[in-house]
Amino acid sequence: MQKIDDFEISQHEKSKRIINIKIDDKILEKLIFPFNKFDITALEYKPFTRFTLAKSLDDLTDNKLSKLMNLIVRDRDTGCFIIGPKNISSKINDAFLVKLSTAIAYLIGNPNHDAMAGKYYARFFVKHEDKSDSYLRKAYTNMDLHTDGTYVKEITDWLLMTKIEEKNVEGGETTMLHLDDWEHCDDLYNDPVGRQNFIWGSPKSKNIGYKIEHPIFSTDDKSKPHISYIDQFPEPKNMQQGIFLQKLSDSLEESKNKVITKLSPGSIVVANNYFWLHGRKPFKENKDLSRELLRIRGAFFRKSK
Ligand SMILES: [Fe+2]
Repeated sequence: MQKIDDFEISQHEKSKRIINIKIDDKILEKLIFPFNKFDITALEYKPFTRFTLAKSLDDLTDNKLSKLMNLIVRDRDTGCFIIGPKNISSKINDAFLVKLSTAIAYLIGNPNHDAMAGKYYARFFVKHEDKSDSYLRKAYTNMDLHTDGTYVKEITDWLLMTKIEEKNVEGGETTMLHLDDWEHCDDLYNDPVGRQNFIWGSPKSKNIGYKIEHPIFSTDDKSKPHISYIDQFPEPKNMQQGIFLQKLSDSLEESKNKVITKLSPGSIVVANNYFWLHGRKPFKENKDLSRELLRIRGAFFRKSK
């Protein structure tokens, strides 16, 4: 495992494909000054400030952090890391976590505009009561395994999810599944229906005024499967597509190889969106339940011409 001064890098206790990266207090202290240079409004209004923020983090590691994160997230054998402060102090507040998440995202690629939030990231709560129209905020329902960006035109190579804070939470564990660990991958990937175009729409809260078409499975340049799938948004055109989606959904959910993990507040998960699926277990009912999350989805940097 690669070494970076003042970072603790190890394999996740439940999966060799997930790398834990813990940031030492020394680095966090050194970030306070450059992070204070920009307030959240500046980051939201001026995209270049996000690159400055990201560079200030990477410079503290002689640019080793960006190299490591990019290696992990692009490597088919891993594709996922969980990064966060080793110790949570009062200085690690919500604004700090927005900035840290921004810095990490901008060492990997350019975020997509998040239409739900109207900016490059979205912050949202999961609470006891919910009136929304998608599973995102439904605390007591399983959020089934899925990938992100299934219903948007933008390329979604990766996603970043930060747990900002939680109170009165039991349950609600993060679930993840790597395609190469999924027992039924070959079976579903080789079914020609998975290569047909499906129509993908989305409910009103997502603020996407169009529908798109794409298949569920595609093939990468090394002949490995990629998946783009979520249960709620495909609109099957016929019985064949409907039954295929049911079979896919059932066989993902019944997988014994899901990684089920409790993320501590301050944790930031970054995953490749082509071969990692993610979801959430239901919470135990509590009227004071509250979890605040942040998400960023984006494309890898591509060389400019
Ligand atoms: Fe998601």
